[in-house]
Amino acid sequence: MRRVLFSSVFFSLFLFIIFIQLNCGPKEEKEMTREEMIARGSYLVNLGGCNDCHSPKVFTEMGPEPDTTRLLSGHPSDAMLATIDTSMIQPGKWVLTSGTDFTA
Ligand code: HEC
Repeated sequence: MRRVLFSSVFFSLFLFIIFIQLNCGPKEEKEMTREEMIARGSYLVNLGGCNDCHSPKVFTEMGPEPDTTRLLSGHPSDAMLATIDTSMIQPGKWVLTSGTDFTA
């Protein structure tokens, strides 16, 4: 009786170790499809708020929104920048300025 008990405990332990070994091996990296890569990039860009500074805006009732026709295109070359009071630019002074859509 003791021998049967010992054998079954030993066999269960053996199966448990095999099970752990099979599950702890290096996982195979699944290669992403093009669609999955695009979805991942879109997720990261939205998470990082990249459009806040790198996309021109359209002004809606809810305020400025990224212009979806020009996403991540940077500062429009024809957009005017605010004039700067150059007397503010002196040693020890600095000025922070931006376009209305924060792309510059
Ligand atoms: C708060 C505004 C802001 C946000 C948000 C922002 N950026 Fe930028 N990014 C800048 C500025 C300003 C520069 C230019 C820095 C410089 O020239 O020194 C820049 C530069 C870069 C550059 C380098 C471009 C070059 O020609 O060297 C890359 C790439 C970039 N950003 C990608 C991103 C990505 C990706 C995200 C989102 C994860 C992001 N940025 C979010 C403001 C921002």
